[in-house]
Amino acid sequence: IIEQKVDSLLVLMTLEEKIGQMTQVRHFWDIKNGDVTSKFIGSIIHTDGPNPGGNAEEWQSRFIELQKEALATRLGIPLLFGVDAVHGQNTFEGATIFPHNIGLGATQNAELVEKAARITALESQATGFNWVFSPCIAIPYNERWGRVYEAFSESTDLTVELTKASIKGHQGNLSDKTTVMATAKHFIGDGATDNGVEGGVTSLNGEEVKERLLAPYREAVKSGVGAVMTSFNSFEGISMHAHKKLITDTLKVGMNFDGIVVSDWKGYSRFGNHKIIDAGIDMVMAVDGDLDFYQTDLKKAVDSSLVSIERIDDAVKRILRQKFRLGLFENPFPSKELIQQIGKAAHRKVAKQAVRESLVLLKNEENVLPLNKQAKKIVVVGEHANSAGLQSGGWTISWQGGKENYKGATTILEGIKNTSKGEIVYDQNASGNHFDADVAIIVVGEKPYAEFFGDIGHESNNLTLTLSKKHQDYIKTYSQKGVKVVTVLISGRPLVVTNQINKSNAFIAAWLPGSEGNGIAEVLFGNYNFKGKLPHSWPKFEKDFKGKYGPNYWDNSIEPLYPFGYGLQYNE
Ligand code: IFM
Repeated sequence: IIEQKVDSLLVLMTLEEKIGQMTQVRHFWDIKNGDVTSKFIGSIIHTDGPNPGGNAEEWQSRFIELQKEALATRLGIPLLFGVDAVHGQNTFEGATIFPHNIGLGATQNAELVEKAARITALESQATGFNWVFSPCIAIPYNERWGRVYEAFSESTDLTVELTKASIKGHQGNLSDKTTVMATAKHFIGDGATDNGVEGGVTSLNGEEVKERLLAPYREAVKSGVGAVMTSFNSFEGISMHAHKKLITDTLKVGMNFDGIVVSDWKGYSRFGNHKIIDAGIDMVMAVDGDLDFYQTDLKKAVDSSLVSIERIDDAVKRILRQKFRLGLFENPFPSKELIQQIGKAAHRKVAKQAVRESLVLLKNEENVLPLNKQAKKIVVVGEHANSAGLQSGGWTISWQGGKENYKGATTILEGIKNTSKGEIVYDQNASGNHFDADVAIIVVGEKPYAEFFGDIGHESNNLTLTLSKKHQDYIKTYSQKGVKVVTVLISGRPLVVTNQINKSNAFIAAWLPGSEGNGIAEVLFGNYNFKGKLPHSWPKFEKDFKGKYGPNYWDNSIEPLYPFGYGLQYNE
């Protein structure tokens, strides 16, 4: 019946209206008053920029206004509202923020991943969105890639399992107003580029590699994912945005994908203009000034038969199909009743459970853990212990993350204070001479980063995967004084920390836990056991990264420090 509705709408549409449906623009930045009507816009994306601020009612009402504009057009086709809610509704302050996917990968708990996705969907709907650009189902081959943390694991099998759970959680039955359309991204090879360069060249090839990268998409399509986003990298020598064979033949025909293929940022002008539509992209992120160029250029390409009208019709059908499946024609507005559920205790409880289960215990010499709640004095060291922003990583409140203490979050230090009964002192830079403490909990790690490109120069773009000298010194200072050192590493990927592990009595990989810092303290003090297992092999030496593919543990040519799946527990 949906197909009939799609067809009867399509026959009424002009070429301009069709191209309009195939257009996604960024609200605040790219959209001017009246654009939705005059340019027949199909979708709005909210990303970083002038953060709109305000409460959930205000967020909803912005989208309600735009939706009303769309509904008032000749054909009254509702808009899709998309957001990068990649670990919770992470653009809205006060929402529940989960560990990034690498931490969820460490839980190996599909049920929990499904719950987290369901909550993300609900809190996204509550703030006005019906589409999220998540999950990232990359298979990272190289830890130098600055987006390793957005993916679940280096293991295809684990990624496949969690992909299924994530899509089920996000989408439910799709027409339900508490769920959203999900996006499997970035198709394909995003995490397999030479030297881990974002949007670079993926020269790895061969059927085995291809199968490892495609398998999660096969599962995503089987699970009914509504959208797939193409990747910035090239694969087999062709830009993925223009890779007709993979987008059309493999994904759409081979896998039977009938949903939307959406481009990434400015994909049209960056990757070959109309060629990307011909290759099979259905909707374009026409952002940063691309809107008018895109619409005019695509029209010209159709008029001069560079893109067939059948291709345009296929793209529009896919978009309309998803709008019908989402129930947007009957129910186009976000629900006010959901607002009170944003960041509620039951949601935070699930996020905290995810934090606890994501922690991987790499070392526990002489059972220094669990910590004694009655310990007279514990010193907590490092700025990462006292900042919700640092513990959450990129894609948190803003694109690059880093907002010190965002609403609703609990820091690791607060968690420790909530859990321990003894004296807790905070020595941010290891300079306070608390060498009389029973134990030092040293929290070190990476600064937040997101989506780096070679020219921005974030830390993640360094080819070095070591801790900063300052953070290495925190550990050295306390261990040299004979204080028992428990190191908690906050990072988006495994780092080369062999020396720091050697100097610590206990060492925990905590990934990027998100808003619930309490979860870490509860495990350190033994309220819960460790459960997390490494979602990546853990590198031993920097020199293992000298090849452009990174240490290729899969062919066992290089020994990792700890293998995939490693993780200790208490009583072992
Ligand atoms: O969804 C993201 C994508 O992962 C990277 N480029 C920008 C998109 C929209 O913000």
